[in-house]
Amino acid sequence: MSTSDRGLALVTGASYGVGAAVAKALARDGWRVAITATKIENCAATAEAITAAGGSCLPCALDLRSQDSIAALVARLWSEAPVRALVNNAGVNLRRDAVEVSREDWDEVMLANLTGTFFLTQAVGKRLIEAGLDGSIVTVSSSHGMLGAPQRSTYGISKAGLIQMVRMLAVEWGPKNIRLNALAPGRLETDSPSRAASGSDPVYMGKMLSKIPLGRFATGEDVGAMAAFLAGPGGRSITGQVIAIDGGLSAA
Ligand SMILES: NC(=O)c1ccc[n+]([C@@H]2O[C@H](COP(=O)([O-])OP(=O)(O)OC[C@H]3O[C@@H](n4cnc5c(N)ncnc54)[C@H](OP(=O)(O)O)[C@@H]3O)[C@@H](O)[C@H]2O)c1
Repeated sequence: MSTSDRGLALVTGASYGVGAAVAKALARDGWRVAITATKIENCAATAEAITAAGGSCLPCALDLRSQDSIAALVARLWSEAPVRALVNNAGVNLRRDAVEVSREDWDEVMLANLTGTFFLTQAVGKRLIEAGLDGSIVTVSSSHGMLGAPQRSTYGISKAGLIQMVRMLAVEWGPKNIRLNALAPGRLETDSPSRAASGSDPVYMGKMLSKIPLGRFATGEDVGAMAAFLAGPGGRSITGQVIAIDGGLSAA
């Protein structure tokens, strides 16, 4: 664990999976890390792992579907310190034929993935701008935000929206030295409960692997390493970019 104090970073959706790996990577790099889940108790395992390794972790509740929840989180964090790095990781998936998608399905995915992420980014960016501080915002999109696939239309459209949010705000906030980048993972190997069902189907997994030039799935740790790099000094001239973490899937 690094002994330097880089300031306060916020990682959304860090109860397990990708967000937990991102939070651990930032803590190793010397960030104090605020982590969120919809219920604060879901943060326990990640918080314990970070503190056991000598890092500093602040568990918080956040529901991206609620503007009040976003405002309360940002106000609480700012009362402690400015958030200098934000990783927008939280998101929900939906696997459904386009013709079966209901208005409720659509609203649920868009509210959490796109609307909530935009307004959290706005709240953090606004405070940084008002304080005259620079910052790094990393948003976890998906290969489904760039490539077509069956049964992922709502999810993919929300993730494509995030990529365009990153490009728009990178240009608007570049003069304020606030950098925004998107990560576009393909299928990942993680400990997420949401991955358990499809991960146990060897035929499905074999088909997915055959499309990946590197012949292996990327991991949450791979995403964490890139998020930490972009949040740190190595990323100081990188903004408005989409970085695929997919073993070459999108290049094939
Ligand atoms: N895993 C993959 O293969 C993969 C591939 C490409 C992109 N991604 C993207 O990577 C990110 C993380 O994926 P993952 O597989 O690690 O996800 P996950 O295991 O399902 O975890 C999702 C996280 O988001 C939180 N969350 C869910 N709904 C929320 C809401 N309304 N407001 C705030 N937080 C909410 C969850 O909190 P609770 O614990 O409270 O439910 C959890 O911490 C997602 O954006 C996903 O789209 C994942």
